[in-house]
Amino acid sequence: MLDKLEEVARTALAELEPIQDEEPLQRWKVAHLGRNSTLMSVFDQMGSLSKEERPAVGRRANEVKRMLEAALTAKVTEMQEKALQKSLQAEQLDVTLPGRPARLGRLHPNTQTMREIYRIFSEMGFQIYRSREVETDEFNFGLLNIPPHHPARDMWDTFHTTTPGVLLRTHTSPGQIHVMRQNAPNPIRACLPGMCYRFEQISARKDTQFAQVEGLVIDRDVTLADLKGTLNDFYRRLFGPGVKTRFRANYFPFTEPSGEMDVECFLCGGDGCGMCSGSGWLELLGCGMVHPTVLLNGGYDPEKFSGFAFGMGPERTTILRYHIEDIRHLWTNDLRFLEQF
Ligand code: DAH
Repeated sequence: MLDKLEEVARTALAELEPIQDEEPLQRWKVAHLGRNSTLMSVFDQMGSLSKEERPAVGRRANEVKRMLEAALTAKVTEMQEKALQKSLQAEQLDVTLPGRPARLGRLHPNTQTMREIYRIFSEMGFQIYRSREVETDEFNFGLLNIPPHHPARDMWDTFHTTTPGVLLRTHTSPGQIHVMRQNAPNPIRACLPGMCYRFEQISARKDTQFAQVEGLVIDRDVTLADLKGTLNDFYRRLFGPGVKTRFRANYFPFTEPSGEMDVECFLCGGDGCGMCSGSGWLELLGCGMVHPTVLLNGGYDPEKFSGFAFGMGPERTTILRYHIEDIRHLWTNDLRFLEQF
């Protein structure tokens, strides 16, 4: 029986040696380790062996079995390694092939305008503040001197939320109250950019979402001359020293007096064209001297402090800079449009 085991081991190992493929390997496994193999029949015959023979044969049979299993594992590893080497040889990487170009991102034209605006205001000593886009009725209207049911509310068609008294801000002006309450009674030079929302009929000139940049200056002895000087300086820095501007009187509940600022139409140079509806001027912003009630609501004594404020639409500036004919292009996310900037 022991001889038979040696014979099994020798032939099995000899047959395994040249095998290189999966199929003959499976056949070898069935033949030498399978249920009907000679080796397994030795285990089956143990019962018929004498007491003296049985331990030696049993031990050797187990050894042979383990040996064949180890040889099989080694063969599998060897074959996998060879297959890997072969595929590495056959499918060599051509590192000289050009890679896929990584597409460079770019800033949205309106972001570019906003950053230009921050840069200029920073140079002029303004701090940039962020404030919330979801506001209370009180901050968006009440504290800005627009009480409930005041007809001035018609100037802002508002998106209300399902929570009473909570709305999407219709302008960046509520940020004025936040900044004042944070800083009172210290002087303020603040710039408050951000998104605003209005229930507008969407057209080439109006969208339901748009950015604004609010400005607020509060100090002792601030006058209308400071307002005009600051804004003229700002637009000269933005559009160039030759830019022509004008102020018109207007009404806003949170400023007194209030006005609007126009720039001479870039397209026609003041002659009047389709872009400026024939007037020769393009509207840039609303502005005015901060109303005493608003100063009080922000925590400033209107007897001691005065200030000016303004709110501009940067999309307007973007459109003027790049001669974009439809404001809706800005927020439709069309790459054919965006890739031009
Ligand atoms: N909040 C105004 C609007 O959205 C714009 C504005 C006008 C802002 C006058 C001001 C201001 O700060 O003083 O129509």
